[in-house]
Amino acid sequence: MAEHTTWDTVILGAGAAGMMCATQSGGSTLLLDHAKAPGEKIRISGGGRCNFTNLYASPENFLSANPHFCKSALSRYTQWDFIDLMARHDIAYHEKTLGQLFCDNSAKDIIAMLQSEMAQAGATLWLDTTIDSVDHDGTDFSVTLTRLGRQQRLTTRNLVLATGGKSIPKMGATGLAYDIARQFGLAVTDTRAGLVPFTFSDARFKPISGVAHPVRATADGKAFEEAMLFTHRGLSGPVMLQISSYWRESQPISINLFPDSDPFETLRARRQAQGRRNLTTELASLLPARLVDHLTEQMDLSGNLADQSDSALRHLCDALQNWQMVPTGTEGYRTAEVTLGGIDTDMLSSKTMEAKAVKGLYAIGEAVDVTGWLGGFNFQWAWSSGWAAGQAI
Ligand code: FDA
Repeated sequence: MAEHTTWDTVILGAGAAGMMCATQSGGSTLLLDHAKAPGEKIRISGGGRCNFTNLYASPENFLSANPHFCKSALSRYTQWDFIDLMARHDIAYHEKTLGQLFCDNSAKDIIAMLQSEMAQAGATLWLDTTIDSVDHDGTDFSVTLTRLGRQQRLTTRNLVLATGGKSIPKMGATGLAYDIARQFGLAVTDTRAGLVPFTFSDARFKPISGVAHPVRATADGKAFEEAMLFTHRGLSGPVMLQISSYWRESQPISINLFPDSDPFETLRARRQAQGRRNLTTELASLLPARLVDHLTEQMDLSGNLADQSDSALRHLCDALQNWQMVPTGTEGYRTAEVTLGGIDTDMLSSKTMEAKAVKGLYAIGEAVDVTGWLGGFNFQWAWSSGWAAGQAI
């Protein structure tokens, strides 16, 4: 006979959202994870320093089939609330760029902070635990699991789905939250990899891999300005990760290599002053030299500045400010920072994250169809949604 215990709340997934939820939920709370340590994505994020929130976080920084859904939780547990929590635990941080806050020391400080808050709330954490099945008798949920080589059954009034999305299966990401949501009749929107590098089957950028340049990238009417990085397999860098969340297969991306200046006016002025200078040399004073070599080959550029008519210069500058390309695809879940789509927000209360049709069932964090931009927004959603559910329980 399997061991049997009863809990007020069982949270599946000890990541960012699950741990935050466990710091808030009253009564007896058990947090389960198949990993050997909690918060593994927190630990590796931001190069080990975790970009834990963004000073400018607002609902506009999130993608969802219902862009209004995230508003309630984000406004009730804000970036300032998380910053206050960090201050209470004496964790030093700094702004890197664009409102992105990182730990001065280590992302592990955040995991330790959440664990200490969980301990204070009396929550129990079981790691290395396999979730075998979940059932519902109309009032309570039962969770069957295997731990320390033994199968056990738990009964709980509240069940929280916090197992995240499908990004980086090597780190233990699974579709468990989606499967359980479907089991209880909750719709799940199509999922795809987000914040992910682009690939090109012809490896066209291999010769210039490693070159970086600030650009404006546009796809599906959305534009971001940040650094682009050419890679062996395609395009990366913050701007490409951002735009990947808006990109759909076979769509073009437009790249403006001069987001802050008008190269036409610059080159025309130089033609007037120093017409005998070589066109590609002049371009190389405005763009990385290896990129200019690549463009010279692709666009057959040659001659002195004086050889270029106004219309030739205009044509060249238009091409450099609207460089169109269609990626073959993306690196996919293997390297994606997030999963777009997920548990349909129509199925959930935006205030409590509880399923409208299944009392006591909650979904939080990345498992829900709310995805943030690059820059600390995804952790903020994990904190806000986890807090909202924890408060409601
Ligand atoms: P999260 O993935 O954190 O946690 C889910 C938990 O569920 C995990 O502990 C997992 O082991 C467990 N689990 C999954 N399946 C299970 C199963 N079948 N059984 C038992 N347990 C299971 N965001 C940001 O804002 N700033 C940043 O700097 C970064 N950086 C970053 C870097 C990298 C490399 C990645 C992959 C992602 C980021 N992110 C980020 C995104 C951020 O990590 C992510 O959005 C949050 O961790 C989501 O929090 P959740 O708690 O929802 O899921």
